[in-house]
Amino acid sequence: MRKKVIAGNWKMNNDLSESQNLVSGIISGLGNDTKCDVIVCPPFTSLSEVNTLIKDTPVKLGAQNMHYEDSGAFTGEISNSMLKSVGCEYVIIGHSERRTIFGENDEMINKKNKKALESGLKVIFCIGESLEQREEGITNEVVKKQIVNGLMNVTPDDLMNIIIAYEPVWAIGTGKTATPEQAQEVHSFIRGQIENIYSKESSENLQIQYGGSVKPENAATLLSQPDIDGALVGGACLKADSFLSIIASA
Ligand code: PGA
Repeated sequence: MRKKVIAGNWKMNNDLSESQNLVSGIISGLGNDTKCDVIVCPPFTSLSEVNTLIKDTPVKLGAQNMHYEDSGAFTGEISNSMLKSVGCEYVIIGHSERRTIFGENDEMINKKNKKALESGLKVIFCIGESLEQREEGITNEVVKKQIVNGLMNVTPDDLMNIIIAYEPVWAIGTGKTATPEQAQEVHSFIRGQIENIYSKESSENLQIQYGGSVKPENAATLLSQPDIDGALVGGACLKADSFLSIIASA
């Protein structure tokens, strides 16, 4: 039985004191007995402080992005060792905002996935189709290509440290959610692709999160689908109450 995993992607929100308030609210509402994994992904500037606050709690820390080189002349970028030095266990790679706004392609995302895994970070690897692609009926092709290219040369052992987040781009921050059936259909397709590339066992162990306007009102039905193993939450993770309510649904 796969454990559910709820992650909050804070995006470019919350300065240091806002971050401290938010994570404190999450910790106090959560208590110690969570049945699912809980990950928070604050902006880089808050990672260190949030890490201090989550010590001895079930909450885990993730970053929102990472460069694929170890160090060097890459102004404005952040490396794997920097993330680990402030307590990150996870990193989100290939978020659609990175792909569309910042021009990240499958090749860069593959390099990032491999570097993160090689350095001991766990990856939340995001994939998903745009509205045009869905309307053209090529969702499966798009998702398959992102999986094949993004996971190129990722070993079966490394796959155990990957969570795939299926995030249809048209559902992110738009208030439009994929129906549980639409999401389940793609999740099941993704699991099938992982079985083709790796093995049945790998595909059965893989956690696949849904992301795209997950809120307290729709979390339970999405999370009740057989292949939906968690949620990557944007807008609704910025208030402790709504994030906690999504965690409770899991
Ligand atoms: P949203 O964002 O929940 O605000 O749609 C999800 C995400 O981008 O991970």
